[in-house]
Amino acid sequence: MLTWSLYWTVRECLVTRKPIAVFDSGLGGLSVVRELRRSLSCEDIVYFGDTARVPYGIKSRRTVAKFALEDARFLLQFEPKLIVAACNTASALAMDELEEKLPVPVVGVVKPGARAAVQLADGAPVAVIGTEATISSGAYTAAIRTLSAQQEVIGQACPLFVPLVEEGRDSDDPIVKLTVETYLSSLREAGIHVIVLGCTHYPLLKEAIAEYLGPLVRIVESGRETAHAVREVLQRGENLCAEERTGTLQCHVSDNPTRFRRIGSRFLDEEIEHVELVEPEQYIASAASDRKEK
Ligand code: DGL
Repeated sequence: MLTWSLYWTVRECLVTRKPIAVFDSGLGGLSVVRELRRSLSCEDIVYFGDTARVPYGIKSRRTVAKFALEDARFLLQFEPKLIVAACNTASALAMDELEEKLPVPVVGVVKPGARAAVQLADGAPVAVIGTEATISSGAYTAAIRTLSAQQEVIGQACPLFVPLVEEGRDSDDPIVKLTVETYLSSLREAGIHVIVLGCTHYPLLKEAIAEYLGPLVRIVESGRETAHAVREVLQRGENLCAEERTGTLQCHVSDNPTRFRRIGSRFLDEEIEHVELVEPEQYIASAASDRKEK
């Protein structure tokens, strides 16, 4: 009996109390952290936002995969029980590499978003919106078709949404409304039933998107679905925290912590207390060796 309770106490300290690590190209991944904190409130979270190298959404697969691996490897020092690739672009372009090269389970945002879309589609076309890189990768389409081979999927890149959100424009703004109409008019005409918000920033424009597409179109937020997927993975491995406490949030960025704190709180829906600036040699493997050579 004593041995059994000792086992659970040790396990609690060694495994379930380890943090969940989350990375993104910048501050948008905080919209995923918000969902994690809502549904897994006792979990500690360590976040890395690569604000020095954002945006990822216009970069090549090779570059995004390199950056994503570096971001995730930086987070390994915190001994996470799981890593979340909160960035849709990184999940779309680098998931295979992350899964292959990291020693802990990795959850991306594409598969959970795709799963929810298939459940809601009911035979009508599904739309996926995201960065240029996410849409041209075809990753959402592939994930949806793995679950439902005949499903029609329409991808639409919406590159102006990210800067609009970062500039603090919200759903009531006339520029946002016009941009939504410009990008989504063909999707509305195609008679979609479901739209996947395949980018960390888009949940902040959800109202404008919903208003334009009308009440019959269901909106899937990949970040929210990802929080459910994280719970499932942790539950399966018996690694879910079950304590009566509010988990901590530690944020690290590669540039401009002040801007991250200011704008990030809108994504997170809470104040960000402290943000640590990370030097390049701590997250870029080549920077560390460059320094040694000097
Ligand atoms: N976080 C990115 C994504 O979800 C958007 C910003 C970027 O382009 O890096 O795809």
